[in-house]
Order: sequence, then C-alpha cells, then structure tokens
Amino acid sequence: MENSINIFEREEEILLQTYKRIPIQISHGEGVYLYSVDGKKYLDFFSGLAVNALGYGNKKIIQAIEEQIKKYIHLSNYYISSLQIELAEIIVKYSGLSKLFFTNSGTEAVEASLKLIRKYFGPDKKIITFSNAFHGRTYGSLSLSGKEKYKKYFSPLLPNIIQLEFNDLEHLEKNVDTNTAAIYIEFVQGEGGVKVASHQFVNKIKGIRDKFGFALVVDEVQCGIGRTGRPFAYQHYNIEPDLVIVAKAVGGGLPLGALLTNKKYDNVFQQGDHGSTFGGNPVACAAGLEVVHEVFVNELVQIVADLGNYFKSELSLLHKKYPDKIVDVRGLGFMLGVELFNSCDGLVNKFREKGILVNCTNENVLRILPPLISTIEHIDYFINIFNEILSEDK
Ligand SMILES: Cc1ncc(COP(=O)(O)O)c(C=O)c1O
Repeated sequence: MENSINIFEREEEILLQTYKRIPIQISHGEGVYLYSVDGKKYLDFFSGLAVNALGYGNKKIIQAIEEQIKKYIHLSNYYISSLQIELAEIIVKYSGLSKLFFTNSGTEAVEASLKLIRKYFGPDKKIITFSNAFHGRTYGSLSLSGKEKYKKYFSPLLPNIIQLEFNDLEHLEKNVDTNTAAIYIEFVQGEGGVKVASHQFVNKIKGIRDKFGFALVVDEVQCGIGRTGRPFAYQHYNIEPDLVIVAKAVGGGLPLGALLTNKKYDNVFQQGDHGSTFGGNPVACAAGLEVVHEVFVNELVQIVADLGNYFKSELSLLHKKYPDKIVDVRGLGFMLGVELFNSCDGLVNKFREKGILVNCTNENVLRILPPLISTIEHIDYFINIFNEILSEDK
C-alpha cells in the first residue's frame, strides 16, 4: 500500500494534472477482472472506456502481437503491410463502406474526416453537431464538441460549426440547408450520457440528406465494433453513413483508429493530402485483427445483443424497484446508462469498495461498458451489487 501512496504523490509532482485518477494501483488484468497491487479483484465494467472488448490477457491478441513484433514493430507507411489490408477488408465488409484510412486514435480519425469534408465542400459551408456530443480533444474534434466545459479555455476554435439539440427534429429541419457540408453524430452518445438517437430523428436526417446532399459522418469510436450488439451502432437504423469513424476497441488495446468512407467520398483524398507516421501500425493491426475476428466473424456481437437485452431488462427492474433513485435506464447492447436523480460519483465509489469498476458520466449517468466477453454470471453479480447499494442508500 505504501508503494501505491508514493506513486500517487509522485504522479502529482511529475505529470500534468489532467486526469482525476481512480485511487487504486492496478497490478494486472485477466479476462473481465483487474487486480490491484494489494491483491483486490475488480470486475471491470468500464473496459478501459470501451477499449478492452476482449478483456485482459486475451491469448490470441497476445500471440498475434508476439508474432508481429518479431517481424517488425513499425513499418513506414511508404511500405504496405498485409495486416493493414486484412484488417481493412474485414472492417469494410462488416460496415458496408468502401475504403478506409488508418489513424492512431479517435480524435485523429475525426481530424482526417474534417479535412476530407473541407476539401470536398470548400471552406464556407457549415458543419452541424449536437448538444452533448463528444468527438475528441484536438482542435478540430474539440470544435465539434457539444460540451462547453471542454471548450471554454481554448477559443478560437474552428469556424462554421453549429450545435443543434440532439433528437430535436424541428431544430434540425430549421438549421439544415444547401449550405450544410456535414452532420456529425454519435448514434449512441457516450460522454454525453449514453443517449440513443431516436429513429424519427435518424429518419429525418436521412430525408434531409437526400434533399440537401450533405455528408453524414457517424462517430463510432465508442459505440462501434460490436459494443451495441450490432457491428456498428448505425446498423440499428435504416441509414447508410457517408463517413464512419472508429477507434478504441479496434486496436485490441493498442492505439489504432480509422476513417471509413463510402464510394462517394473514397477518392477525395489524393496522395499527399493526409498522412500519419504511426497510423495503421502493424502490431496494432495484428491485435485489431483478433478483435474483429472474434466480434464480427465469430459473432461475439450476437451474444452482446442478447446479453445486452437481458442486462437492460434487469436494470429496468431496478428502476421499477427504486423509482425515487433512478430516473432512466437506456442504451444498446453493452453500452448502458442509468440516469440517477443525484450525482453518481458516490455510487461509483461504493461499487469500487464492493469490487466493481464502473464509470459516471455527465454528472449523474452511471455508464456501464462491460468487456464484450462478459457472461450472464458477471451481469447478475453486477445487478446484485447494484441492488445492494441502492437498498443501503437511504
Ligand atoms: C465518441 C467519441 N469520439 C471520439 C473520441 C476520441 O477518441 P480518442 O480518445 O481515441 O482520441 C472519443 C473518446 O472517448 C469518443 O468517445
């Protein structure tokens, strides 16, 4: 324990204080569990913020990484690595899009998309994003953010970006026209409080896109790669995106992201228009291949859909039992949110004391992001502990 106290003090001295750290020091992970240096075991229903789809210590990912690092760890993008092709082929097949560009992160894929949109539509057309949206921390993606608290010290941000109310059909109709280049949307907002786009809203977007010809850019950084019980969250709707952004789980825990385009936009970028030293790193692609094999090809995504329905129905029973504490239960698959009447920081601490790691977003929304390999037993365990906490809390 002394060691872990030291490390927290040292962290304050040596690292910029941008993160509010969780006060446990992790020694290792195995499956859906994390273990602290003082020997405590935690059920991790946060999964590295939707990164660790296959949990910790996945043997296939480890083997793929080991095999690749013996061949080469890095290869300049002046050369082509067959792993990039293999991974791109699977992602393209399951997304229904046409081509992709590899990045190292979600925010970089968003930046790539902004450049592509500006190149195609020119500098003056407006870009629409939504309240509570989150697309990353670099300047372009921050400009798209719907959260004032992330933006307030950093102006000037990119011009010609307009924020509309999420799920507000009228607001959308009034503000979209021939001068609109793109709409950016997360079909399930993550940071924004696990808010799901309504079918009417998405149908409206579809209708006005047919009319005005803007690009629909779908951010699947958090809700993609099987998390919602479909390969991509937009597949819950009757709509085909123009651009799709993925990251997080796609690299199996290593830094990887991608911008996908449909046929209309797949030759906007020409040689030299965009690039990245590390984007599509072969070790990350090797790890990512194991993830997409398991989630898409071996259909883990179907199990997520079934168990996600079960998990949500169990949470809804708790909602019925504690109507004075829970406002709403929402989400899809293994991306679930429980909105509470009060702030959920205290609740997260109680979960941790009882051996479960879970997150609080948007002040009062408990965000539950289990590894996709979680079983019904893990879900039941979570529900029992949640019930215990709610019943103790007078
Ligand atoms: C929806 C969404 N878009 C973009 C990002 C940014 O991704 P990254 O942190 O990999 O830059 C995130 C990160 O949480 C996200 O949730």
